[in-house]
Amino acid sequence: MKINKLELKNYRNIEYMELLPCDGVNIIYGENAQGKTNILESIFLFTGLKSFRSSKDSEFVSFGKEFSKINVDFSTALRDQTAEIKISDRRRAVLNGVTLASPTALMSKFPASLFSPGFMTLIQNGPTERRKFIDSAICQIKPKYALLLSEYNKLLKQRNAVLKDSENYKDTKLFLDCINEAFSNLGEEIYKERKIYLDGILPFVTEIYEGLSSGKEEISFSYIRKGDKTGKYLFSEIIKSHETADISAKMTLTGPHRDDIDININGVSARSFGSQGQKRSAAIALKLAEAEVIKNFIGEQPVILLDDVMSELDAKRQDYILNHIKDRQVFITCCEPGSILRMSEGKTFNIKDGRLL
Ligand SMILES: Nc1ncnc2c1ncn2[C@@H]1O[C@H](COP(=O)(O)OP(=O)(O)O)[C@@H](O)[C@H]1O
Ligand SMILES: [Mg+2]
Repeated sequence: MKINKLELKNYRNIEYMELLPCDGVNIIYGENAQGKTNILESIFLFTGLKSFRSSKDSEFVSFGKEFSKINVDFSTALRDQTAEIKISDRRRAVLNGVTLASPTALMSKFPASLFSPGFMTLIQNGPTERRKFIDSAICQIKPKYALLLSEYNKLLKQRNAVLKDSENYKDTKLFLDCINEAFSNLGEEIYKERKIYLDGILPFVTEIYEGLSSGKEEISFSYIRKGDKTGKYLFSEIIKSHETADISAKMTLTGPHRDDIDININGVSARSFGSQGQKRSAAIALKLAEAEVIKNFIGEQPVILLDDVMSELDAKRQDYILNHIKDRQVFITCCEPGSILRMSEGKTFNIKDGRLL
């Protein structure tokens, strides 16, 4: 997939911008706080996923303005397409002239893979970030997965509400029995999708990480199911065996909302023992691998968005990344484009105060 034109109106600190990228590497450079990340964020919104920076749509609208509008012309293997996102209090999306019921309907129509420094939390923080990573990744290739998640979360909310408020053991049991089957089925389905995804992404992550570390290190990961370290049991069995514990804890202690992914480098936990460079490389490998999986799954090369990624890597790693992504459209932001420019052909955009110079 290629973006041919991006047009922004009242988007954060950008009053108006028209960007005509090339098919290869596009470098967006400038000092801090000029609007580089804002450009990548605006592109990312067309994936139909939530922004990596704000959860409130209204934050995208320039201070003091009523709405913002982003338009993109892009080509996929089949045809040229257009999409528009209009934001006021919330987002509305139009694809090829047709207004979509919800911006989430864009999922898998406009594939993109983004790395931002905040993504390091994937390795550093608790399991929430890792679940978010895998869930968004699957949503991009299987939009139905988003539905599955939201149905599971709805039931989870009800289940937790009953566990929290009920003083009456019998009533609680009765309610749990009532929703157990549906809840277990949804949870099991999510688990299966996540496993399929991890199995699919593993060979790419391994290869990319090996390349980034010049063959010196090895990455591996495994899915950790809360309440079942063996991975042998069905969710219906896990949830049943934790029922008494759930009732006394007044919340649901097991399920996909509590699972985790263990990421190891050379056999030890990257989170506990990894150096900054190793964590960064692991996060990058996961993101670049995500792009490979998207490509294999939907047959379309995703646009790659790399926010502030190059500056902290040595020349060898930068070189590996640029080589790895050379046949795709990439947007890279940085303060100093020198080293990237030397290594790649492509187009540069200098941005200052939300304007292209
Ligand atoms: N809704 C908004 N309206 C106007 N300016 C905004 C809005 N949201 C963020 N900004 C401004 O955008 C700038 C940051 O842009 P960003 O793309 O993160 O910079 P960088 O070039 O460092 O990546 C900041 O100056 C911030 O105040
Ligand atoms: Mg930035």
